[in-house]
This record gives sequence, structure tokens and C-alpha cells, in this order.
Amino acid sequence: MIISLGADHGGFELKNRLSEFLRSEGHEVIDNGTNSPDSVDYPDFAKPVAHDILEKRADFGVLVCGSGIGISIAANRYRGIRAALVTSADYARLSRQHNNANIITFGGRFTSFDDAKEWLKIFLSTDFEGGRHERRVSKLDELN
Ligand code: RB5
Repeated sequence: MIISLGADHGGFELKNRLSEFLRSEGHEVIDNGTNSPDSVDYPDFAKPVAHDILEKRADFGVLVCGSGIGISIAANRYRGIRAALVTSADYARLSRQHNNANIITFGGRFTSFDDAKEWLKIFLSTDFEGGRHERRVSKLDELN
């Protein structure tokens, strides 16, 4: 798969480790930065990842900021993006089965690499269940 990644200064270390992991698993990675501890603004990194997905250059996205909250809010401003801040294996699974999430988000200051790696593997290997969830997910894009 092709996975688009982005992070701010609070998440770039975890993002870089996840990028290496994804490559080692045979995925293609689009790295939208940041790549240093210099302070940056998380919306600037949610934007290219959202565009990569909406314009079909990537299958899924991974976003990381310090808490995971700001970069989730930013990504979810884009119609068609369903970014899920994942804090457990169950959340990783449910975000795909019920919400058809297309971006997984982590809090780089609160999530270990081992947990993030496990949850990312679950996220990428779990299908959307459709059915009653299809109707609900469709309504997301009609909200105004
Ligand atoms: C940056 O210090 C921090 O505010 C940011 O990474 C994120 O946690 C915001 O939600």
C-alpha cells in the first residue's frame, strides 16, 4: 500500500520510526515531514496528508503530533477525511470496522513505538464492515 505520513515537532520521532517500519513491511511511504525538533504548526502537516488521500496518491495516512488531538482536528476539517486518534488495539480495529477511517493519528508524547506499530498493523489489516455503518459514514460528508 501507499501510506502518507506527517507530523509536527511533537510527533516526528514516532512518525520516522513508523515510516521505517512501514517500509520494512513492503509499503511505499510518502513522508510529508516535519523532520526536526524545530517548532512547527500541525495544520501544515495534516494538509498534505489529507490531500494525498483525497487525490488518491495514498491509500491511508498516519499523522502524529504531541497529543494527537490537534492534528486529528486539522485532518477532519477536510470533507472525505476520517481521522481517528487511536489509543488502543480496539480503537484501531473499530476505527476501520465502523468508521472506515482513512487516517490513523497518534500522540507522539503519549504512545510508545511498540504500541503504535501494533495498532498501525491492525488499522491497515482491518476492513470496513459496511452495512449499517455505510449509511452513517455517508452522512458525515453531508454535514453542514
Ligand atoms: C505542540 O507543542 C503541541 O501542541 C502539538 O503537538 C499537539 O499536541 C497539539 O494538539
